[in-house]
Amino acid sequence: MRQKIVAGNWKLNTTVQEGVELAKAVDTIVAEQGAEDVVVVLGVPFTHLTKVAETVNTERIGVASQNCAAEAKGAYTGEVSVSMIKSTGAKYVILGHSERREYYGETSETLNKKLALALEAGLTPIYCCGEALDIREAGTHNDFVVNQLEETVFQLSADDFKKIVIAYEPIWAIGTGVTASSDQAQDMHANIRAAIASKFGEEVAEGTSILYGGSCNPKNANELFANKDVDGGLIGGASLKAEDFIGIINAY
Ligand code: G3P
Repeated sequence: MRQKIVAGNWKLNTTVQEGVELAKAVDTIVAEQGAEDVVVVLGVPFTHLTKVAETVNTERIGVASQNCAAEAKGAYTGEVSVSMIKSTGAKYVILGHSERREYYGETSETLNKKLALALEAGLTPIYCCGEALDIREAGTHNDFVVNQLEETVFQLSADDFKKIVIAYEPIWAIGTGVTASSDQAQDMHANIRAAIASKFGEEVAEGTSILYGGSCNPKNANELFANKDVDGGLIGGASLKAEDFIGIINAY
């Protein structure tokens, strides 16, 4: 179901204590000001999942892990399974982030395994896509991103696809302070939605939440979110300060 979603992705930041404090601050402000029509999600390190889920009102704030194992269980030292994630109270899992592709060699094949496990466990995948600067400069970014989706989430059944959230994160905007322009964001989101419609039909396309990520902050969120095909944001750096994260939520 299409929703306005503002999800934080804390990445490799905060101790458990710092994370609980940050989650508490966000929860308190959201409780005070309502923000009823925006789904708020906190993407936290594995170590924080249980404590953060115990800290926030999970009816109002969803907790996400930033990854999951590509296997269900067994001899995979250091991995964290979807059932372990689910047992913490988390309801979402961020998958396909460009940093995991770049630094940890994640492939579409790996991601298809993770998607299947996450959906089977009843977690909502926030599935990332996005192009590098050279692709953008070459002008092949629309086809590149659709191809990323075709290799993964477009392999799902329509019923499973309806359960996921898409996050478009141009790699050249992640952590750089160089945000996509409103037009760039809207053009790519419309491209993604058209590809979904072509694959699964208009109804599924119109029902899909497509988030923008990449140097989104309280100053530019309003313009980005005003676009008809932008349904919120996946926020990195600006999610690490409660007041900035709330400022983005309030952009709606
Ligand atoms: O997943 C969100 C992240 O990649 C965006 O990072 O710091 O540019 O908001 P940032």
